[in-house]
Amino acid sequence: MMILTYTQTHTHTLESLNTIKLSVSESLKTDGYFLTRTNTVSIDDVFSFLTNIGDLWMPEFPVIDVQINQGNRLYAFTNSKIPPHNECCHEEIPPLWICLFCVGVEEEGGEFYLVNTKNSLGKLEPEYFEKLNATKFIVRSAKTNYQVERGLFQMHPLSKEKSLLYTTIGCYSIKSHGFQSKENDPFVLKKLNEHLLKSTEDYQYHKWQKGDLIIFDNYKFMHGRMAFAGLERHLKHIRLVPKK
Ligand SMILES: [Fe+2]
Repeated sequence: MMILTYTQTHTHTLESLNTIKLSVSESLKTDGYFLTRTNTVSIDDVFSFLTNIGDLWMPEFPVIDVQINQGNRLYAFTNSKIPPHNECCHEEIPPLWICLFCVGVEEEGGEFYLVNTKNSLGKLEPEYFEKLNATKFIVRSAKTNYQVERGLFQMHPLSKEKSLLYTTIGCYSIKSHGFQSKENDPFVLKKLNEHLLKSTEDYQYHKWQKGDLIIFDNYKFMHGRMAFAGLERHLKHIRLVPKK
């Protein structure tokens, strides 16, 4: 099992967070993620640090509480396993950086994971990859409700690399803002889903501890989590784009 390594530990204050701003940018560029353990910073400190690095992707919802909420049926608000996905991949411009700050931990399970999509897709046969690359899908934005026709790959806002932005959650139904193949070939996505779901050797796991902060590149990694027990797990979720 591959484990995500901490980029930096023992970061205790907002000042010490602010002094590592440059190394965060460097880690995001080279490794695609930055993971640190904090002791005493508050969510307000973390928020002020993060909005120093990037702009909010959706200012109307600056911080989302990811915890069990029985009134909400989305995966994130249950204790279920979450399959690999890129955040908001149905949107015209998905957020570049996803930040999670742990304020409460589960009793058991709940490992978070990242999947480096380029490495994982590199294991598919070139013929299939070409087909995947060429297929157009009808995608509906949850934000605007508009449908557009496009491929599964988008250009990374900074590196300009071609990146897969996709979700293995609910991909067969356009009603769930999923991807629908124009050629009506469900096998293209079936194969992609099977590959991403079974290639767990490509997953890099992290077991949360209170005070952990991760920032990761949503164009480079898919992410998800294992099912968990207990009601205490609570993550603060912030989505960013590069500063204008
Ligand atoms: Fe997510």
